[in-house]
Amino acid sequence: MTTILSVASECAPLVKTGGLADVAGALPGALAGEGCEMRTLLPGYRAVLARMDGAAEVARFDDLFGGPARLLFAQVGPLALYAIEAAHLYDREGGPYLDPQGRDWADNPERFAALAWVAAHIATHGAGDWRPEVVHGHDWQAGFTPEYMHAMGARVPFVMTIHNVAFHGNVEPGRIGSLGLDPWRFRQEHFEYWGQVSALKAGLTGADRITTVSRTYAHELLTDAFGMGMEGVLRARKGVLSGIVNGIDTDAWNPATDPALAATYSTPRGKAANTAALRAEFGLPDDAPGPLCVLVSRLSGQKGIDLLIEALPALLERGGQLALLGSGDPHLESLLKDYAATHPGVAVKIGYDEALSHRMMAGGEAILVPSRFEPCGLTQLYGLRYGTVPLVALTGGLADTVINASPAALARGVATGVQFFPIDALSLGNALAQLCDLYADPKTWATLQRNGMKQPVGWETSAAAYAALYAELVTG
Ligand code: ADP
Ligand code: GLC
Repeated sequence: MTTILSVASECAPLVKTGGLADVAGALPGALAGEGCEMRTLLPGYRAVLARMDGAAEVARFDDLFGGPARLLFAQVGPLALYAIEAAHLYDREGGPYLDPQGRDWADNPERFAALAWVAAHIATHGAGDWRPEVVHGHDWQAGFTPEYMHAMGARVPFVMTIHNVAFHGNVEPGRIGSLGLDPWRFRQEHFEYWGQVSALKAGLTGADRITTVSRTYAHELLTDAFGMGMEGVLRARKGVLSGIVNGIDTDAWNPATDPALAATYSTPRGKAANTAALRAEFGLPDDAPGPLCVLVSRLSGQKGIDLLIEALPALLERGGQLALLGSGDPHLESLLKDYAATHPGVAVKIGYDEALSHRMMAGGEAILVPSRFEPCGLTQLYGLRYGTVPLVALTGGLADTVINASPAALARGVATGVQFFPIDALSLGNALAQLCDLYADPKTWATLQRNGMKQPVGWETSAAAYAALYAELVTG
C-alpha cells in the first residue's frame, strides 16, 4: 500500500470553483483500487471545518504565518481529510480565493504558503502515526511545498500537477520573509521568476515528477502559445513531464440513476423528456428545428465565450438553441444577459448550480466547449456520458477525449463529436453549422450519441497511470 498526501486548495464535495475540485475529490477513491492510500490536505475554510465533525487534533502550531493553528484529521465520506484550522487565514466570508467583492484576498500568498508548509511538515514528521511516501501537489497553491520540504529535510518525492498554467501565484520578493522562504534560493533555478517570487515555479523546479491533465496539454505547455510564460521552465523539465487525462465520477454522473433528472435513461432516446423539461425550465420555444445546445462553465477569457457570441448566428439561423449556465467575469455575464434578452433562441442563467448542471447534460442535445485553451475539461466528458454530443475546440484535453466527425471517422462509425480549429469565431461558426447538419441526419446523430455513451470516461486507466508513477518514485 503506497501512501500519498494530496495537497489541494479545493476538493469536491466540500469546496469547489472548478474541475480541480472534482479531480482532488475523485483521486483518492479511484486510487484505492490501485493499492494506494491517498489522504488529502486542505485549508480549513469554513465549509471544510463544518464537515470535520469529531475530528482529531494531529498537530498544533503556535505561529503559522501570523497566528495559531491546528492540524485536524477526520474521515469525511470517502475522503481521509487533513484540514488546517487557522482562523487568521481561512475563517472568513467569501470564496477560497476571492473576497465577497470578487477581489483576490491580499494575503493569498501566505494563505497557500501555509498549506504548502503544513504539507511539508507532514512529509517530514508524519501526521500522528501516518506518513506519506509521496506528496502530490495541485497547481500554484501547493507550489512552495518542495521549498519547505527542502528546508525541513524531508526525504519524500514530490509530484506537481498542473491543472492550469495561467495562474502562477507570483508575489513581490519583499514577501520572501513573510512567506518563510530561503532568500538564498531566490534564484532562477528555484523560485525566482522575472524578478518575482513564483509559487508555481517553485513547484515545477522542485518536483520529482510533473504531470498535467491531458497528453495534448503536456505538449502544448512546452510552446510559447500555451506555456503562459512557464514554457521555458517546463522545457528544462521536459524529461519528467507527462500527461494523464482526467476522468469523471461515473456514479455521480450516470444518466441511468441521476436523481437530478426529469427522467433517467440509458439510451439516447431517453433524453427527449429531459430536453423538453430543460426547454421549459429555460423558457426556450419547444418547436425549434435545430439542436438544443448547452454550455456550463466558469465565465473567463479561457472559455471562449466571446467567440461563441460572435459565432452564434450560425446556430440560430439553422434553428438551434443555446441554454447557458455560468458565472465569473461580470463583463461576460452582462454580455450574455443582453444577448439572451434580444434572441429568443438563447437563454442564460448566471450562477452556480450543481443540480441544474446535471439537468443540462441530460436535456442538452449538444454540449459546447469553445475554450481557447483547456488542460482537460470535464463537461465534454459529462456530455459523452449523457449522449450529449460535444462540440469542442481542438486543444488540450478536448483534443484527446472527443473523436471529430471527419468524413473518415463518420465512415468508420467512430466519431463522438465535432472539433474546430483554428480557435476563432469563424471556424466555431462553421463547426456549429456542421453540428446542425449532423443533427438533421437522425441516423448519424444517434450514432454519435451512442458512440459517446460507450466511451470510457471514468478514472480506471488514469488511476492506474498515477499509481504507476507513484510506484516508480517510491521504488526509486
Ligand atoms: P475549469 O476547471 O477550468 O473550470 P472543467 O471543465 O475542468 O473547467 O471543470 C469545471 C467544473 O465546474 C465542471 O464540473 C462543471 O460542471 C462545473 N461548473 C462550472 N461552472 C458551473 C456552474 N455555473 N454551475 C454548476 N457547475 C459548474
Ligand atoms: C483546470 C482546467 C481544466 C481541468 C481542471 C481539472 O481548471 O482549466 O481544463 O479539467 O483544471 O484538472
